[in-house]
Amino acid sequence: MTTRIIPVDVFDLVVFGATGDLSQRKLLPALYHRDADGQIPPGARIIGTSRKPMSRDAFRAFVLSAIETYVPAEERNPVFIKPFLERFDYVAVDAASETGWADLEKILAPNPDRIRVFYLAVGPDLFGSICDRIGAHKLVTPKARVVIEKPLGKSGESARAINDEIGKVFPEQSIYRIDHYLGKETVQNLMALRFANALFEPLWNSAHIDHVQITVAETLGVEGRAGYYDTAGALRDMVQNHILQLVCLTAMEPPASTASDPVRDEKLKVLKSLKPITGEAVSSATVRGQYRAGASGGVAVPGYLDELGNSDSTTETFVAIRAEISNWRWNGVPFYLRTGKRLEKRESEIVVTFKPIPYSVFEVTAGPITPNRLVMRLQPDEGVKLWLMIKDPGPGGMRLTHVPLDMSFAKAFTARHPDAYERLIMDVVRGSQTLFMRRDEVEAAWKWIDPILDAWKGSNEPPKPYTAGTWGPSAAVAMIERDGRTWYEDVA
Ligand code: BG6
Repeated sequence: MTTRIIPVDVFDLVVFGATGDLSQRKLLPALYHRDADGQIPPGARIIGTSRKPMSRDAFRAFVLSAIETYVPAEERNPVFIKPFLERFDYVAVDAASETGWADLEKILAPNPDRIRVFYLAVGPDLFGSICDRIGAHKLVTPKARVVIEKPLGKSGESARAINDEIGKVFPEQSIYRIDHYLGKETVQNLMALRFANALFEPLWNSAHIDHVQITVAETLGVEGRAGYYDTAGALRDMVQNHILQLVCLTAMEPPASTASDPVRDEKLKVLKSLKPITGEAVSSATVRGQYRAGASGGVAVPGYLDELGNSDSTTETFVAIRAEISNWRWNGVPFYLRTGKRLEKRESEIVVTFKPIPYSVFEVTAGPITPNRLVMRLQPDEGVKLWLMIKDPGPGGMRLTHVPLDMSFAKAFTARHPDAYERLIMDVVRGSQTLFMRRDEVEAAWKWIDPILDAWKGSNEPPKPYTAGTWGPSAAVAMIERDGRTWYEDVA
């Protein structure tokens, strides 16, 4: 397999929150990889900002240490590191006051015609004031773009307020709302699988599909992010964005092209067709859980409340939902969604289960016939498995067995899989919005989430406890079993 690298146009990238966690863990390593692969052209600059006064050399040393910490040793090459560091500049800027803005203006002034990217790797409470000042200092050029990270609000109403504030300074076509799940290799592959093969699309509907499961399971707890997480919870942190985007890509109609608006138009239709879960229905169609002390990978771990240091929190660290899409293609096909922290395994996958065959021509001695399943594994061990029935090889008459056609991408392709952020940052520079959320998508997603949050808030029932290192509360198992189905478990 050859990798095709197309250099992007020269750019100035300003990172707000450059010394923060996201920058260190994701943005700087992603930029390093793109640079080492030759995708970033000579002259492109990266300007870090944060409130902390720091010299340019001190910031370059910080970037180096982030690369040494977060880029595996075998992927680091001193030949590339030196010129990479030379791209960096630093200016101390305060989002909430005038401090530093004149300096930023000065640094950007020589290149008014370049692509200019403002990456807001900061909390959403700062989005408005940073954009205001970017506008007031006339830093918005025709080729300027702003990138914002989730969480985009805590409800539809707060998301609208944030979008309004950003929209005063940047037009919608210059706003890049990141959902890093859209940049993941297998998520991209979902589009390829569905729309570059003749095999699946004719079967991709309620006549042939029994149900869909989407699981995003993590083994980690809330780590150092308990402060943020406790104000969010799994529904806002994972379902409103990542999981609903996966639902969209699984369920959408074929777009007219892969350009940004055709894809986003189709995703929007799915979000608008989600059957509302409101009032009484919330207790039967959703399960929320919170982990208690248990074990992760054989090591004892504390419960959520202990990690948080607040025994009253009712924030959910697990959620399971039985969703439905009310349209011609999907009517009557449940989409079971679940995500949680401190679960048994780190495992994210989309599982499409087809309907049983209409009639078996085999003797009962051939054994049961299990419906076909298509499993798209997002992480770890990205790949696709198609479960089929075959004859059990060898003598002994006709016996049937269920086996996967198994394609592990790591085994099939040796090329390194770029991290989602590598692809997404380059897409911003290229001006491609296909993998970013449009304002109406975000708002439609909140419209479906808000009533669930409201119903939870109005109920006296706390989240159901589950032991860390398990698959979540038993109520999530009961929810799918009530429908005569079970959560998929990879046994192959
Ligand atoms: C983030 C959430 O958006 O996604 C985190 O805020 C979560 O809570 C993370 O851990 C999961 O991302 P990934 O790429 O590790 O699956």
